[in-house]
Amino acid sequence: MDGSTPAQWISRHDQDGWLGAIDRAILAAEAAELELSRHGGNDPSQQRKASGSYYTPSDVAGHFWDLFFRLHRIRDLRSLLAFVATSDLVEPSAGSGMFVFSFLRKAAQLGATPESLAGVRFHVVDINLAALRFFSERLREVEDAAGVRFDGIRLVQSDFLAWAKTGTTTNVVFAGNPPFVTNPRGSRWKNLYADFLEAMLTYEDLKGVSLILPLSICFSRDYSDLRVLIRSAGMGISASSYDNIPDCLFKAGKPDSTNTNRANSQRCTILNLGGPDPSVREASPLQRWPAAERASILSSTPVFRAFSDRDASGQIPRPASETLVDYMRGTAGARPLRTFLSNAGRVAFAVGGVARNYIGIRDHNVATPGSIPIKVASGDASALVLQVLSSKLFFDYWQTYGDGFHVTVNLIERFPVTSALEEDCMRNRDRTRKVWADRAAYAKEKLNSGRVVRSYDFRAAFEEA
Ligand SMILES: C[S@@+](CC[C@H](N)C(=O)[O-])C[C@H]1O[C@@H](n2cnc3c(N)ncnc32)[C@H](O)[C@@H]1O
Repeated sequence: MDGSTPAQWISRHDQDGWLGAIDRAILAAEAAELELSRHGGNDPSQQRKASGSYYTPSDVAGHFWDLFFRLHRIRDLRSLLAFVATSDLVEPSAGSGMFVFSFLRKAAQLGATPESLAGVRFHVVDINLAALRFFSERLREVEDAAGVRFDGIRLVQSDFLAWAKTGTTTNVVFAGNPPFVTNPRGSRWKNLYADFLEAMLTYEDLKGVSLILPLSICFSRDYSDLRVLIRSAGMGISASSYDNIPDCLFKAGKPDSTNTNRANSQRCTILNLGGPDPSVREASPLQRWPAAERASILSSTPVFRAFSDRDASGQIPRPASETLVDYMRGTAGARPLRTFLSNAGRVAFAVGGVARNYIGIRDHNVATPGSIPIKVASGDASALVLQVLSSKLFFDYWQTYGDGFHVTVNLIERFPVTSALEEDCMRNRDRTRKVWADRAAYAKEKLNSGRVVRSYDFRAAFEEA
């Protein structure tokens, strides 16, 4: 070679070779999305929604494998080949095969040749025969360009849940983007993705699970039992989460929309389980980025922060800051904010039921739909609760444990108030009364269903003291 890295060398010398063929397969896989979601004779958009056929954009698949390789400590050709020799990869709902092609691409970037990958074992499962046929044709083009047959890449037309029940494969690593489809009432889980994940976690000889999932896997009470299963699987846990505004992982919106309305598309989590260190517990904040920063976000490692299995929330948190992580470490024995509230007390103020950049405080005397009334028994309690809910700390707490949108009564009531924080708030109570009296200076107004809604943004108000 000429002093360049293997990846640079390949991309310069292999434009028309197998790497070029992989790139063409990736482009084709991305472009085929809507066409391939016609499964049966129905309206394709309805069909797409019914089967959860929202395929992964290539940049997201590349990012997914970066995170996968990182957790499995695949850093060079040697570690890659060792991994491949000892694992059976399974794509449970392969669609057009984006994950398989982008895996080959990532392997080639580490210097793998087609010959060195000829033995790779990849079980490519999907219920949709048309998708598998498409995949098989693209794979054949890659093989022709490589001059190698990837006989270990096996296509399986099956319901994945049936496949998982009868599977006898060992050292299995599941990787992909399962369908996000609402299950019928009375089902074990509300969404089919959870059935997929449970089938993987209970698979006999499991080595790893890496999936793109809805953010609900991290926080929803509907999936608490699934999180218990995740924590008790004896594997490292690494989770990175992605907001849906301004940009989002799935460009076409998933799964509730058939249009490009970003607000309808999912907040997602890339959940990676496995790797050589089973004690790893790390999670990213809920990341937000403008479209102009998409390439940079998807080509970098998120900020990961450690979390504990003993986290009282039972969630996979999205730790928003070091300050919040440090604070939460010292909250054993702290009083939940609930104990400063009083159902029999007067309404002191209200809190906006949704948030984005700050927690909106509202006037108590205007009953605004979507506001949470805050009732307290004393002026001191009112000053404390107002400071807490306006603080950066509570905002970070909401980002860490909330759904990224709603501010819920439960979240407010559970916030732990340490005695140090309580003392700080008490010292600051006169200033708080003054801020509240001067609240017009902090007002922000917006139109909500034709009504002007006024919120107070007190982020800076109490920190000036
Ligand atoms: C969200 S798409 C993902 C496709 C591909 N993994 C990607 O990310 O580009 C979901 C795929 O799941 C398939 N699918 C839906 N239900 C399935 C099931 N029960 N078993 C296997 N595949 C299923 C659909 O046919 C579709 O191709």
